[in-house]
Amino acid sequence: MIRPNALLSRFVCIGCGSAHPMSRPLTECPACGALLEVCSDLQAFGLSGAGWRAVFDRRRGALLGASARPFEASGVWRYREHVLPDLPEDAIVSKPEGATRLYAPGELGKELGLARLHVKHEGENPTLSFKDRGMTAGVSWARLLGFGEVACASTGDTSAALASYAAEVPGMRAIVLVPDAKITGEQLSQALHYGATTLGLATDFDGCMRVVADLVATRPIYLLNSKNSVRIEGQKTIGFEAIHDLGWEVPDWIVVPVGNAGNLSAIGKGLHEWRELGVIERTPRLLGVQAEAADPFYQSFAGGFASRVTREAAPTAASAIRIGAPVSHPKAEREIKRFGGAVERVTEAELLDAFALANRHGLAICPNSAVALAGAAKARAGGLIGRDDLVVVIATAHALKFSGTALEYHRSTARLANPPRRIAATLDAVLEALGS
Ligand code: F0G
Repeated sequence: MIRPNALLSRFVCIGCGSAHPMSRPLTECPACGALLEVCSDLQAFGLSGAGWRAVFDRRRGALLGASARPFEASGVWRYREHVLPDLPEDAIVSKPEGATRLYAPGELGKELGLARLHVKHEGENPTLSFKDRGMTAGVSWARLLGFGEVACASTGDTSAALASYAAEVPGMRAIVLVPDAKITGEQLSQALHYGATTLGLATDFDGCMRVVADLVATRPIYLLNSKNSVRIEGQKTIGFEAIHDLGWEVPDWIVVPVGNAGNLSAIGKGLHEWRELGVIERTPRLLGVQAEAADPFYQSFAGGFASRVTREAAPTAASAIRIGAPVSHPKAEREIKRFGGAVERVTEAELLDAFALANRHGLAICPNSAVALAGAAKARAGGLIGRDDLVVVIATAHALKFSGTALEYHRSTARLANPPRRIAATLDAVLEALGS
């Protein structure tokens, strides 16, 4: 690939349109305070849509030898020119991430009324969630800018990913602020094990977000929440890879769970760019789904986006999306409008049953992912999703980060509960337990 000489990317404010160099560690517009986004001149490469597809096909199919560098196997950096074209390859911190499987769970689809269901399992990333895609971009950029400290507020998965990527960079310290007792033990253990300075705050995620914003204003710490638009560039590749996995067939719908709304924004931004470059000929529709307990984005959508609703998020089994004031709301709203999208919400019973059902069919997805799955089924039942629509649900994390929820479900009287039984250590007891 011949690279243009000039720098290709800059930050552009989605509010006032001002532009800023990416050498500055900005996470909001210095002029008006709105969100920034990375704008890259990808036309400078002079490739057609077919030309880009050939480059990506070649990389995807390449056999890698022992001397290959990690990023060459990454499903993020496979699309590197479209992620951070100004990042030198030797600055990339990669595990590698992405290159997750796209499942076609036929029986599960039948039960949900989705004849052409696919599930992109982002729980197959190195820290078991999609956050690794944004974090490889964010931590690489932090290192390039020379930061020794990086921080985030988190419901558990961003903190695990940040801690893990920072652990690969000698001398880099990760600082994570999590709502005390509101993330799972598995998620907490990840941050601790990777050596992050882990602070449990007596508040919710939205409270942690406010404190971390104050923290990075007081000393030179690089903020790596999805408010940082460099992370969004890495997360765009979920949509890229899903379409690439489908042999370049564009699905009718891509369905994602929505918390802080970074992921929906990222997938939309990436696919919009691919459409502009001619990599794809049309765009899918986007469906964002929330839990009823934490549904501000749904409420905004239901009100025609006349106002930006925020609320206090109540407890939900989908604890990773227990967020009342989604930071990336303006970007996500734009993508929903741009893609003829919609927002759905589901009850605790609906998300828990979808969680159990997916796992029952062998797909180890988490309760937050199940929100998207349940939302897709609901949108199908309501007629928004058509009978033969090609649907890709993004499963955002692995079931094993949420084993407590699974055990609680199976010990309850819920519809699909499969309770463990304790019996005597005899053949007779086993035979009796098995029934005739
Ligand atoms: N699914 C999982 C498993 C998550 O961890 C998150 C967000 C989302 C979905 C929602 O993505 O925020 O981009 O809309 N988790 C963040 C965190 C907030 O701190 O780990 P989003």
